Amino acid sequence: MTSQISIERLMASVHELGAIGALDGGGVCRLALTDADKAGRDWFVKSLHALNCEVFIDAIGNIWGIRAGRTEGAPVMIGSHIDTVATGGLYDGALGVLAGLEVIAALNASETETDLPVAVAAFTNEEGARFAPDMMGSGVHQGALDLDEMLSTRATSGDALVGEELRRIDYAGQDLPIIPSAYLELHIEQGPVLEAEGLKIGAVTGVQGIHWTEFTLRGQTNHAGTTPMLLRRDAGQVGFAIARLADEMAQELGEPQVATVGVFEVSPCLVNVVPDRARLTVDMRNTDGDILRSATDRLLSQAQQFAEAAGCTLDIRPLARFAPVVFDDALVTRVETAAQNRQLPVKRMPSGAGHDAQMFAPNCPTAMIFVPSHKGLSHNINEHTDTTYIEAGAQVLLDVVLDLTGGLK
Ligand code: GLV
Ligand code: MN
Ligand code: MN
Repeated sequence: MTSQISIERLMASVHELGAIGALDGGGVCRLALTDADKAGRDWFVKSLHALNCEVFIDAIGNIWGIRAGRTEGAPVMIGSHIDTVATGGLYDGALGVLAGLEVIAALNASETETDLPVAVAAFTNEEGARFAPDMMGSGVHQGALDLDEMLSTRATSGDALVGEELRRIDYAGQDLPIIPSAYLELHIEQGPVLEAEGLKIGAVTGVQGIHWTEFTLRGQTNHAGTTPMLLRRDAGQVGFAIARLADEMAQELGEPQVATVGVFEVSPCLVNVVPDRARLTVDMRNTDGDILRSATDRLLSQAQQFAEAAGCTLDIRPLARFAPVVFDDALVTRVETAAQNRQLPVKRMPSGAGHDAQMFAPNCPTAMIFVPSHKGLSHNINEHTDTTYIEAGAQVLLDVVLDLTGGLK
């Protein structure tokens, strides 16, 4: 019997996991290290045990299961994340982890033995929505981020530390990280390209660089009616100037530069009071690391000038600094070939979103498989990918795993 994905089994697990942290209007909220994330983790661990995998948890709470191979070699790892943003859909991250479980289920069902073991992983806090930076678990696992520094990271809401939350939900493990023989991740594209071009599979060539920065401004509250414009120390107006500049720079630089102000708070947030405090975040990305670095440098130095001109103080906190990553060309070709062998229209493309795969790329051959996102929507409760594309992507994943592990009946 050849190994075949069961789309019915895979979609059943998409809906089972999707019920954990489900939002009333659709979609899910499983912010990292919350009770909903814990419930998702418990479900994942139970699923790994049901597939006869040995389960491991490391000090940053990454979970992985291993299906033994005929040899003791380093496993081929399939990974992604089950944490979500607060307005998450059913597929961002979850699909990669669930497709990994489905690969193991398919290998078990066909009694296929592989030379190399196969691992399936769910990494802690890929989203970075509750604790910055993103890709925290995979970054620590692969040595790009410092464990102690990450454990002492405070939530953006200020209410908790990563290490405390890991202990609270009982996922502060002790197993040692591993470097797999290869790393694969199936993910929804989260953009509009594949659907617009009528393609079913993206063979991902790499991930663009990501810079996140938090700006905190302090000025002085004062009366909105009596304080002349030139005498104000208006933290809100400086925040707006920084936000506007980020947007203008992205327009000026053109594609693929993007800039997003996802957090913007002013206080005391009253109609007739000049704000004395503003806090905003800027997310800037580009596939060209040099352009991204110089854009960030310019934003930071102009922000300082805006603050000084308005008599405000400015604290700048870099939340994430990830350079662009190029995936292993030979492995990308294997993904492309696996798609072509199944007559699935495929193209090579870079990723706009950050992924756990980028943390593995410096240490082992790494590649990703994208499937189309309807209308390019993601980080949105209406995120949707057709079942036929999910089946296609999971089957390509299984085919590449068999190719890499020497899967034999
Ligand atoms: C993760 O989803 C990111 O790219 O921000
Ligand atoms: Mn993701
Ligand atoms: Mn995401």
